[in-house]
Amino acid sequence: MGVDYTLAVSSCSAALFLSIKASGISPKASILIPAFTFAAVPSAIIHADCLPILCECGENYRIDLYEIRSKLALADAVLISHMCGHTSDMDAILAECEAVGKPIIEDAAHSLGTTWNGQMIGSFGKVGCFSFQSYKLLNAGEGGILVTDDPEILVKAVIMSGAY
Ligand SMILES: Cc1ncc(COP(=O)(O)O)c(C=O)c1O
Repeated sequence: MGVDYTLAVSSCSAALFLSIKASGISPKASILIPAFTFAAVPSAIIHADCLPILCECGENYRIDLYEIRSKLALADAVLISHMCGHTSDMDAILAECEAVGKPIIEDAAHSLGTTWNGQMIGSFGKVGCFSFQSYKLLNAGEGGILVTDDPEILVKAVIMSGAY
């Protein structure tokens, strides 16, 4: 993956929940997500006591950049689902979010091994989350993993996952 740390957990849902908690996103924070996603994504956000804000997707199944731009001021963070291998424009999304200091988490449940401009999907955000549930690219029955370059996020996620 080209990242420094990984933590295996029970599901991608758990990885998403832990990513939100370990990234320092406060309770009650608003998190932008694509409207075309899987129910586990808003569920993980609500589980983390935050609020999902939906952004429309285009006919190409990718999050609409205009929607991100127009709603970013309302949000504290962005969680991108790359649905069914349709990778969103990570250069544009990173540029928008970095300009205003909003963290990105990637739901890469469908995107193990895929790239955007040569970089692995899941390695763009502060944390990338993958699923090993039985319909996914790597089938472990159930399971998930999070990847990050941030040692503080990793340590917090390890402690909160109970995996120590
Ligand atoms: C896009 C997407 N994100 C997250 C998940 C949650 O993964 P898990 O079942 O490992 O919790 C799924 C599905 O299972 C999914 O399809």
